[in-house]
Amino acid sequence: MTVVIYFSHAGQNKQHGAVQYINSGNTALVAQKLAAQLDCRCLALQASVPYSTNYAVTLQRAKTELAQQVTVAAQPLIADLTAEKKIFIGFPIWWGTLWA
Ligand SMILES: Cc1cc2nc3c(=O)[nH]c(=O)nc-3n(C[C@H](O)[C@H](O)[C@H](O)COP(=O)(O)O)c2cc1C
Repeated sequence: MTVVIYFSHAGQNKQHGAVQYINSGNTALVAQKLAAQLDCRCLALQASVPYSTNYAVTLQRAKTELAQQVTVAAQPLIADLTAEKKIFIGFPIWWGTLWA
């Protein structure tokens, strides 16, 4: 049994050098494609306090969290993973590091 778990940020994002609104983050798109290929579940992680859809606000929050080495709390994942043999985890690169 395999499952794909990811964190991704929808809302404002940079595309082709400009800030634009996207309904689904890039990690989400890749995670969903992978899960479709593998025919397995695809589960989204959400921060307990959701990130703003505003790009500049999210940049600033993440910068502060990184500087203060904050471990960002996630909402509980309501899923039984005990039978899973393989777990793929997807997350974005924020401020030059894995945001996981
Ligand atoms: C807070 C924040 C920090 C980012 N830092 C970087 C970075 O250091 N390097 C980079 O290549 N992209 C950076 N990006 C761009 C993200 O990699 C890009 O938005 C990507 O689409 C994030 O994945 P997601 O769409 O699944 O959230 C950053 C984006 C955000 C919101």
